[in-house]
Amino acid sequence: MTISHAPSADGVWHHCHLLPEPGQDTALRDGAIVVADGRIVWLGTHAALPDTYRHLPRHDAGGAWITPGLVDCHTHLVYGGQRADEFAMRLAGASYEEIARAGGGIVSTVRATREADEDTLFAQAAGRLRPLLAEGVTAIEIKSGYGLSLDAERKQLRVARRLGTAFGVTVHTTFLGAHALPPEYAGRADDYIDLVCDTMLPALAGEGLVDAVDAFCEGIGFSPAQTRRVFEAAARHGLPVKLHAEQLSNLGGAALAASHQALSADHLEHLDEAGVRAMAAAGTVAVLLPGAYYFLRDTHLPPLALLREHGVRIALATDHNPGTSPTTSLLLMMNMACTLFRMTVPEVLAGVTTHAAHALGAADRHGTLAAGRVADFVLWQVATPAELAYWFGRNPCAAVVRQGRIYPTETGAGAKA
Ligand code: NIG
Ligand code: FE
Repeated sequence: MTISHAPSADGVWHHCHLLPEPGQDTALRDGAIVVADGRIVWLGTHAALPDTYRHLPRHDAGGAWITPGLVDCHTHLVYGGQRADEFAMRLAGASYEEIARAGGGIVSTVRATREADEDTLFAQAAGRLRPLLAEGVTAIEIKSGYGLSLDAERKQLRVARRLGTAFGVTVHTTFLGAHALPPEYAGRADDYIDLVCDTMLPALAGEGLVDAVDAFCEGIGFSPAQTRRVFEAAARHGLPVKLHAEQLSNLGGAALAASHQALSADHLEHLDEAGVRAMAAAGTVAVLLPGAYYFLRDTHLPPLALLREHGVRIALATDHNPGTSPTTSLLLMMNMACTLFRMTVPEVLAGVTTHAAHALGAADRHGTLAAGRVADFVLWQVATPAELAYWFGRNPCAAVVRQGRIYPTETGAGAKA
């Protein structure tokens, strides 16, 4: 359903249970939510609904559990093509790093992204966004990083912004110019970082296309010294940073990110205790990406016990990308985080809501249900919220309220609006 056809969510939502802060013990049985002008103006138990709201139009939620809209805080949703043949090569024995060093991997998606025009990229990304929205995602981060030239990075970021407008979903854009070395800069990584810092970032930030800055700090990506230069450039533009860190090896990227007050450090399979301590001190969120862990058949688990011990917020995301995580299901990531990482149900519920909102620097707007916020929430046809982590490959979402409009989902029972 397009934004212009979606009905308004204004009125009183009743016949529902509320989970205002997923992962916390704050469930409200027999709740109600009042929406006016697209914003939540009141929520509580139905019995406590103030008289002033009783005359408003009613939306029967059919006994659903209502959570805040889900937040997918790490995606590479906009790119050309796909990499199924590379998957086949890996199954035949080649490693992700070998493929990257042989000119495949990220760089092959760069070729396809450069060749595609903006409308083609939009149509392809829209096809991947729809299933995420149908599972209750109401805010999503989208990175560039498959263009690796000013024009091609701009094209990706413009498409990301267009998706937000077209689908009425909150999009946070992240400039990931330092994702891989483009072929024309082979052997000149520092010169490419000059381009990223001195040309690409100033231009794209000036055009309002950048909400945060990211880099891939890795043996097949960029060094800590190069990453630091990207972070310093971000600071000159007043932009927050985040980092692909400690995915394949430990280069101390998470601690580096924390020293720049990063919103998040992501992946983290090889994170050590010094990195965990630095993240805890800086309030940097750990974004874990079970899809990439699974798809690369990784066996090195992120240090869950240390993250818990030091009180680091843990978020989950799809990391949707064509090379290491071609998934369009955040619910599946919740299930995988439980089975593969041994995370608990409260942890994964917080991981796709409150903690993911922190990873975007948007915890004041997303991730919890509260009066005053834009109406972004999800109706789930479940008996208990644990079902969100329990099913895999099944979507119990009945309807989504996104930016104050109602989107029934095809798979769900639908709200009686
Ligand atoms: O988050 N690690 C780097 N970036 C992506 C993979 C990109 C690709 O292989 O195309 C990730 O896993
Ligand atoms: Fe990623």
